[in-house]
Amino acid sequence: MSQPLITLDFLDKAPTTEALALPTEVRVSTATRTGGARKLYIESYGCQMNFSDSEIVSSILADEGFDTTEDLATADLVLLNTCSIREKAEQTVRMRLKQINSHKKRKPGMLVGVLGCMAERLKSKFLEEEKIVDLVVGPDAYRDLPQLISQVDGGQKAVNVLLSREETYADITPVRLNSNGITAFISIMRGCDNMCSFCVVPFTRGRERSRDAHSIVQEARDLVAAGYKEVTLLGQNVDSYKWASEDGAERVNFAQLLERVALVSPELRVRFSTSHPKDITDEVLHTMARHDNICKYIHLPAQSGNSRVLELMNRTYDRPWYEQRVQAIRRILGENCAISTDMIAGFCSETEEEHQDSLSLLDFAQYDMGYNFFYSERPGTLAARKLEDDVPLETKKRRLQEIIDRQQLHARARYARMVGRVHQVLAEGPSKRSQEHLSGRNSQNQVVIFPKGNHQKGDYVNVFVTSTTGGALLGEAV
Ligand code: SAH
Ligand code: SF4
Ligand code: F3S
Repeated sequence: MSQPLITLDFLDKAPTTEALALPTEVRVSTATRTGGARKLYIESYGCQMNFSDSEIVSSILADEGFDTTEDLATADLVLLNTCSIREKAEQTVRMRLKQINSHKKRKPGMLVGVLGCMAERLKSKFLEEEKIVDLVVGPDAYRDLPQLISQVDGGQKAVNVLLSREETYADITPVRLNSNGITAFISIMRGCDNMCSFCVVPFTRGRERSRDAHSIVQEARDLVAAGYKEVTLLGQNVDSYKWASEDGAERVNFAQLLERVALVSPELRVRFSTSHPKDITDEVLHTMARHDNICKYIHLPAQSGNSRVLELMNRTYDRPWYEQRVQAIRRILGENCAISTDMIAGFCSETEEEHQDSLSLLDFAQYDMGYNFFYSERPGTLAARKLEDDVPLETKKRRLQEIIDRQQLHARARYARMVGRVHQVLAEGPSKRSQEHLSGRNSQNQVVIFPKGNHQKGDYVNVFVTSTTGGALLGEAV
């Protein structure tokens, strides 16, 4: 039986926190007040790793007497935590620096720093290119911020973009910014050792390293004690997580870590991102199946549906391998496990037929969600050095639109299947458009909106879903 698709104007958009890289999202930190002497304004671009790092930075600077503020105009220190994943991400930051310049003119003592991937990519060149910048700090150098800031206070410019093989900030308790008090992110690893030919991340984030498993479990425990109900374990490739104690007696892989975090409390939901198709194991899928509180949602970026293109991308899997991983998910976790993807349209030398293969992979996997982009050449990457960026921009854009349209078709169908069933929803807060409704997500990460009744944020509510807009589910608590 097909369910009617309706639209309501109070709908919240689908959550944007699960994919590691988000094209345009910016996050301004909320205010914290500890009576600090100076005010820090921090804005984060790019992926969740950056948002999570901003919480580490705020923690380091809180110890130095900085309170965070939401008001750029009154800040003593303005930090932009930047992203380099596509050219547009960098352009956005440059535009923002121009706006900040006009604030700085009104408040000459204001210090301006850039953190994150663009800082790492451009290094001291940033100081030459953007005169307003006082401070350039790469992702592994945040512990050095107090020293660098005092250098800037002394009238110099300061740069530290050293990458590390060890730094995981394991001992730093993040200051939770923008927190709803219910969901939080835990970084479990840093860097990336894959060399996908299109990708700048290995250059900006350095070598892959896994954080001490005990510190991760402890952070989850602390969050539960503080009333949090959901954690998302973050890494560029969580399936290659591996940590060993110094004497080598204890070894933990991702499936084992996932289980340890799931066992912290049955009341704590556990999510993770991102899974790499080459590394996701059946052991991880079986662990998910064993624990109700591990959410049934996997972000499994395909990038392309064509084996030749995948090889050029250096993804180290081909289409049959990817399909077999999707089948493993369906076999072990059933049809109700949601899967999402990232797709790149118009990669170097991609033909029309190869693009059709990406569309047919969307049909095969029937993703619940997709983050799709057209290829943007990044300086220094393998593709920039070895391959010609030869698909015309209009063609890239047209192929991207075809991918988006096809993907949405499947997402709508997946949402429609959820109608007429009861879902356990973790209420995260009032719906954006209506104080009388609560908004939350089901295990599959779909947004569910329902009349508030006596429920409040942080409650697990069983919701009977009566309809869908294609981007969210609507229902009533039962
Ligand atoms: N570690 C994750 C991806 C992180 S980057 C993984 O391996 O899946 C997030 C997404 O940005 C990628 O999945 C890819 O789809 C997209 N992306 C990365 N580099 C890009 C580029 N040069 N042009 C367009 N999209 C890109
Ligand atoms: Fe980039 Fe590939 Fe590493 Fe993902 S796995 S961060 S796409 S190099
Ligand atoms: Fe993330 Fe962008 Fe860096 S996606 S890892 S902030 S390049």
